[in-house]
Amino acid sequence: MSSEIFLKAIDQEIVRTQYGDNPVELYEPIEYLMSLGGKRMRPLLTVIATNIFSDDWEHAIKPAIGVEVFHNFTLMHDDIMDAAPLRRGKPTVHEKWDKNVAILSGDVMLVCAYELMTAVEDGIFKQVIRRFNRTAAEVCEGQQLDMNFASRNDVTEEEYIDMIRLKTSVLLGFALELGGMIANAGETNIKLLYEIGTNVGIGFQLKDDILDVYGDPEKFGKQVGGDIIENKKTFLLIEALAQAKGKPEEKELAHWLSVQEFDKNEKVKAVTAIYDSLGIKQLAENKMNEFFSKGLSDLEKLAATAERKKPLLDLIEMLIEREN
Ligand code: IPE
Ligand code: IPE
Ligand code: MG
Ligand code: MG
Ligand code: MG
Repeated sequence: MSSEIFLKAIDQEIVRTQYGDNPVELYEPIEYLMSLGGKRMRPLLTVIATNIFSDDWEHAIKPAIGVEVFHNFTLMHDDIMDAAPLRRGKPTVHEKWDKNVAILSGDVMLVCAYELMTAVEDGIFKQVIRRFNRTAAEVCEGQQLDMNFASRNDVTEEEYIDMIRLKTSVLLGFALELGGMIANAGETNIKLLYEIGTNVGIGFQLKDDILDVYGDPEKFGKQVGGDIIENKKTFLLIEALAQAKGKPEEKELAHWLSVQEFDKNEKVKAVTAIYDSLGIKQLAENKMNEFFSKGLSDLEKLAATAERKKPLLDLIEMLIEREN
């Protein structure tokens, strides 16, 4: 089975999914954000994982969409927290409506995600909800750390990796794990699926941080430079702070991190130039490749044929090369 068939089934089910209609301010933003597309990577991970161990992948579609709705809920709130103007090439919900709408619409999206998750069979329901609960709490923990780190300049690489493991990678881990649970893949494989997802997820967030600086605005769909404007402690900034020690870039970087009033474009240009002169992009790509490689070697250990695992291998390779 190929990913295109899975993706088609996912998109069709998303179109069919009803979130509610009254009051419109509560439900319209959900339709809006969900209809803007995105890569649909998380539901794909779930369905692909189910298909590795079972032919009955259609079983996984509804809970997979639950994961996608949860992801979109985190984006709706994340865009408020990051003061982001653009998402998937269109205005963010808090820009198009307002912050209160984005908060409440996001809240009800979380409820919708749980409702979709009830589509799993009774025999695994409790286990699925426990794992989903843990994952959702960890995403919030990661998001809070991300906010805390913005006002600190001594964040270590280790702290950063742990923060992105929580805010981003555990959900990719859960998406794969869920597929394994639905297919009844057995404890060892389910654990391995989670490992693959978390390692790929860390690589994925490193790529996101790189694209936030070096992405093509036409393709990226988000504001390029948003992390620089917000002083986000991305791998790039943490590495730049370390590499700049004792060099002229040290003072320059300190200036841009402390300045309260600035021209956004000027700051983005200046900090990007500092990254360029310190060779930061390459260092970030090396780190990213390290985690993707770990995910790929875990994939080799998964007890299934190469043919069955091919869609997951292809998806991971697409994520390494992606431009949006
Ligand atoms: C964006 O996720 C949030 C991060 C964890 C970086 P995606 O890059 O998967 O966003 P969409 O769903 O494809 O738009
Ligand atoms: C967000 O990380 C992770 C979550 C939404 C939980 P980012 O803030 O980097 O995601 P983008 O770049 O806005 O998509
Ligand atoms: Mg963001
Ligand atoms: Mg964020
Ligand atoms: Mg980002």
